[in-house]
Amino acid sequence: MSSNNTLSYEHPFPADFIWGVATSSFQIEGAAQKDGKGPSIWDTFCETPGNITDGSNGLIACEHYDRYQQDIDLIASLGVNAYRFSISWPRVQPLGSGAFNEAGLAFYERLVDGLLAKGITPFVTLNHWDLPQALQDQGGWENRDTVHRFVDYALAIFARLGNKVGAYTTHNEPWVIAILGNESGIFAPGIKSRATAMQVSHHLLLSHGLALQAMRDKGCTQPLGIVLNLSPTVPATDSAEDVAKARLEDGRLLRWYMDPLFNKSYPQDVLDALGEDAPHILPGDLDAIATPMDYLGVNYYTRSVVSADGSWSPKKSGLPLNDMDWEIYPQGLTQLLVRMKRDYAIPPVYITENGGAFPDPLTATGVHDHDRVQYIDQHIAALGDAMAQGVPVHGYMVWSLLDNFEWSSGYAKRFGIIHVDYDTQQRTYKDSAHWYKNFLAHQKQLSKPESVCATESTTVTGVV
Ligand code: FCB
Repeated sequence: MSSNNTLSYEHPFPADFIWGVATSSFQIEGAAQKDGKGPSIWDTFCETPGNITDGSNGLIACEHYDRYQQDIDLIASLGVNAYRFSISWPRVQPLGSGAFNEAGLAFYERLVDGLLAKGITPFVTLNHWDLPQALQDQGGWENRDTVHRFVDYALAIFARLGNKVGAYTTHNEPWVIAILGNESGIFAPGIKSRATAMQVSHHLLLSHGLALQAMRDKGCTQPLGIVLNLSPTVPATDSAEDVAKARLEDGRLLRWYMDPLFNKSYPQDVLDALGEDAPHILPGDLDAIATPMDYLGVNYYTRSVVSADGSWSPKKSGLPLNDMDWEIYPQGLTQLLVRMKRDYAIPPVYITENGGAFPDPLTATGVHDHDRVQYIDQHIAALGDAMAQGVPVHGYMVWSLLDNFEWSSGYAKRFGIIHVDYDTQQRTYKDSAHWYKNFLAHQKQLSKPESVCATESTTVTGVV
């Protein structure tokens, strides 16, 4: 296990900094057909052979629906002050419209109350991809009616959980839903149409803005925002072709979401490239999308390298790769955040996901995931560097609390800081969980006024 004398220990973060762990409903809950839950598009997607590498599904996952109290205890044991999770829309409203399911609403209320009882702030995401299948049957996010169904659902959640929730997020990673779900089709619902994907992205953004307005109208005083997956996008070479392609991909990944959220417009270069595949936008939509947010969530894993002919592969980069073959590139987090502050009037930022999949065997002496310790350590340090350059970062959450269902990779890729044995559902701290816990204890010590002198002289050893 890494010593405590590492990079992130040199950054004292503000005393009120949010430190958390993150999960999502479909990836951990299981109980896919229990207590009145309806099917989601991911339940359906898993049924088609070939869609999920190991042929698995979310029927059982980590059994979090039944083991939530044990998981709350685990979260509390880490010393975090926040937990980010998502609500399964079809668990609380099986058809995505009409009747709500009391058992589903009650589950999330118990979860929120259980977290609060331990002093942990719940960060609730309303849509982490598991759209009710019944809505997909009517066109899903491509159908403008889904926008209004989402607002109704958001209001029902607010009516139940109210201002007990620390922060609400409308959508997790609209780019993934639009592009991986509807353009390349490698994620649910498995559609392959660029025009559909772009209409989906517009409706996700519109529903985000309208939900914010509706929740505030009903008395929501808690921070509201959206979570984007962002990366710096760089050309593989400095050829004019690669540079132009990288600029366009930056437009599709970052500016396509940041421009409408902050500047009421879509980037013209992307619109030009889309031609007839550009979305239909009605008068007033762009005003609604730009409804001011209280915070922006950023999920960061790696950088994006682009070559015009598609020939670039992370294996060529010489950088260390994780188990997903994603480059490990912590300085990209600093670069991304500094650029966002330069180009947009950003509100407070939370890093809502960051972490890595590594092959971590469970041994007789534990899970010695040194790679993950190093990854998290280096990224927290990179975050500290961005803050030192004036980026208003207010929180950081590790992806993920538990090993879980990693979408089309099934259970083969493990992102957890806590190991899950899927046969027994036994949870075991990995070294990264021990490390994070020690790091957080050390941060707490740094922020206590009476210990400042003592810790200043012992920063190098970082003993906790
Ligand atoms: C993000 C997702 C999250 C998880 C990580 C590895 O894109 O939001 O659910 O799968 O990637």
